[in-house]
Amino acid sequence: MQEKINKIINDIQKATIATDKDLQNFQNTYLSKKGIIYDIFNEFKQLPNSEKKELGRLLNELKKAAHEKAQTKQVQKQKHNNKESIDLTRPGSYDSIGAIHPISQVQNKIVKIFQKVGFIMSEGPEIEDDWHNFSALNMPKNHPARDMQDTFFISLDPDTLLRTHTSSVQIRYMEQNQPPIRIISPGRVYRKEDISARAHCIFHQIEGLYIDQNVSFSDLKKIIMYFVESLFGKDVKIRFRPSFFPFTEPSAEIDIYWGLKTESDYRITKGTGWLEVMGCGMIDPNVLKNVNIDPKKFSGFAFGLGIERITMLLHQIEDLRLFFENDLRFLKQFQSIK
Ligand code: PHE
Repeated sequence: MQEKINKIINDIQKATIATDKDLQNFQNTYLSKKGIIYDIFNEFKQLPNSEKKELGRLLNELKKAAHEKAQTKQVQKQKHNNKESIDLTRPGSYDSIGAIHPISQVQNKIVKIFQKVGFIMSEGPEIEDDWHNFSALNMPKNHPARDMQDTFFISLDPDTLLRTHTSSVQIRYMEQNQPPIRIISPGRVYRKEDISARAHCIFHQIEGLYIDQNVSFSDLKKIIMYFVESLFGKDVKIRFRPSFFPFTEPSAEIDIYWGLKTESDYRITKGTGWLEVMGCGMIDPNVLKNVNIDPKKFSGFAFGLGIERITMLLHQIEDLRLFFENDLRFLKQFQSIK
C-alpha cells in the first residue's frame, strides 16, 4: 500500500493542469467521492491499527499534495478573472456633455429680444418653390435681381429650390394672415457661393416682418436700434446704408463696426472696418398685392439678418467657416454661454 500511495503522489506531482477541463478531470480522478483518494481512504480503514500510524501520515501527505495541486490552478484562474472584473470602488468617468451650438445660442437670444416686443415665431420650409422665394417677392422670372442670390435648384426642376433667404416665410405668412402682423422667422438658407472666411453656401438668417396701418421707416429704425442695443449694448457703432432689394422700397443695409487694425480686419471687412449684418426696408406695395393685402390701407417693414455675422461680431470670430466644421476645440469655448 505504501508503494501505491507513493506512486499516486508521484503522479499528482507530474500532472499538468493547464485548462479548466484539466482541473475538472484532476478533481474527478483524485478528489471526488469516486476518486482515487476516497477509495484509498476506505482501504485504509480496513487495515489493522498497527499499520495505520505510518500509512496515515503518508495518506495525509497524498491528500495535501492533491489539494495543493488543484489550488494552484484555482488561484491562477481567480487572478485572471480579477483582471476583467469591475472595480466598483473606482470613481466614475464622466461622459462629456454636448453644448448648444454658438449659432443656435445667438439665434435664441435674438428671437427672445424680438419676442419681448411682440413678435411671434413663424417658420417655413427650406425646400421652396419659385413663387415664395422669388416671384411673390417682386422678382419675376428672368429678373436680374435674381442674380444677387445664386441658387441651388433641386434636380432639374426649375420650380424647386433651396431657399436663398428667409424672406420666403414673409410670403407664406402673409398668404395666411391679414395685418396686424409681427413675425420673426429664423432658419437656414442656401446660396451657391464660394466658401470663404466671410461667406458660405449654407448660413442662417432671421427674418422680421411688421405690417400694420401707418408703419413708417422711423418705426423700422427704432426697432433695429432697440435690437442692436439689446444685443451689443448702448455703445455699439452702427450705420444705415441705402441699398436695393426688389421686395422693399426704400431699402437699406445695416453695418456694425468691427475694427480695422489687423490684416484679418481688412480681409473680413473688405477694408472698410464695417461688417454688413442685415438688409431691410419698407415692404414694396407689389409684394403686398401679391398676397392680397391692400397697400393703400397697410404698410410695413421687413428685415433679414445674418446670424453668423452677428455671432462673429459678438465673439470676435474671424472666420465664418468655423461654425460649420464642428471642431470641438472651437465649440467647447461656447459651452458655458447660455
Ligand atoms: N432677403 C434679403 C437677403 O437675404 C434681406 C432682406 C430681408 C432685405 C428683408 C430686405 C428685407 O439679402
